[in-house]
Amino acid sequence: MNAAAFLPVPELAGAGVRLRALAARDVDALFALHSDARVMRYWSFTAWTAREQAVEHIARLAREREVMEFYPWVATRPDSDTLIGTCSLFGIHHEHARGVIGYALAPQFWGRGLAGAMLQPALDFAFDTLDLNRIEADIDPLNIASCKLVERAGFQREGYLRERWRVGGGVQDTALYGLLRMDWRGVATAT
Ligand SMILES: CC(C)(COP(=O)(O)OP(=O)(O)OC[C@H]1O[C@@H](n2cnc3c(N)ncnc32)[C@H](O)[C@@H]1OP(=O)(O)O)[C@@H](O)C(=O)NCCC(=O)NCCS
Repeated sequence: MNAAAFLPVPELAGAGVRLRALAARDVDALFALHSDARVMRYWSFTAWTAREQAVEHIARLAREREVMEFYPWVATRPDSDTLIGTCSLFGIHHEHARGVIGYALAPQFWGRGLAGAMLQPALDFAFDTLDLNRIEADIDPLNIASCKLVERAGFQREGYLRERWRVGGGVQDTALYGLLRMDWRGVATAT
């Protein structure tokens, strides 16, 4: 399968956020996000230390999207083009009607309901446009904000996977969350 077979990454809107495709011009804001220890505390790779890592990341995703279906969004405020966070749908298996969601928000935007506002259109797209039935989230159980965020959206904690990740010399567990189409009730709107 090639990129021509996949939908383009669509522009979507939530309360106080806009989602658009990740682009080369996002390199500095993406580097700021992934080099911030607060953002990376529970992430699946260590904090970036060089801008080149952001350049390579964007280039790699563009290459992978030639052969693999996933939707890498950048979140911005509605009146701005500047990245304030990211949201992606990946691990898509149409034969099983499932996918995985991941997200991060710059710390200055935490606590305003924007993370929920970012998930809302991405999940609507997953269920309504991609016709998926199940979305998973793989969360470090110590990441309380992320656990609460998905629980508010209707995700259920379905499993606990021990020592699933090795990151920066440490070991992290996974709380595996699942959201079925029938569970989806939307998430809190932004303030
Ligand atoms: C996960 C993330 C997107 C959540 O965004 P946010 O703006 O902090 O989300 P909210 O303000 O809606 O908080 C979600 C809930 O967690 C609670 N919370 C936030 N930080 C908390 C903390 N340190 N301890 C306990 N509860 C916390 C909030 O009170 C809220 O609870 P409520 O639903 O009962 O009101 C954001 O924290 C983030 O980008 N973290 C870094 C990247 C990351 O870990 N991504 C997820 C990987 S699985």
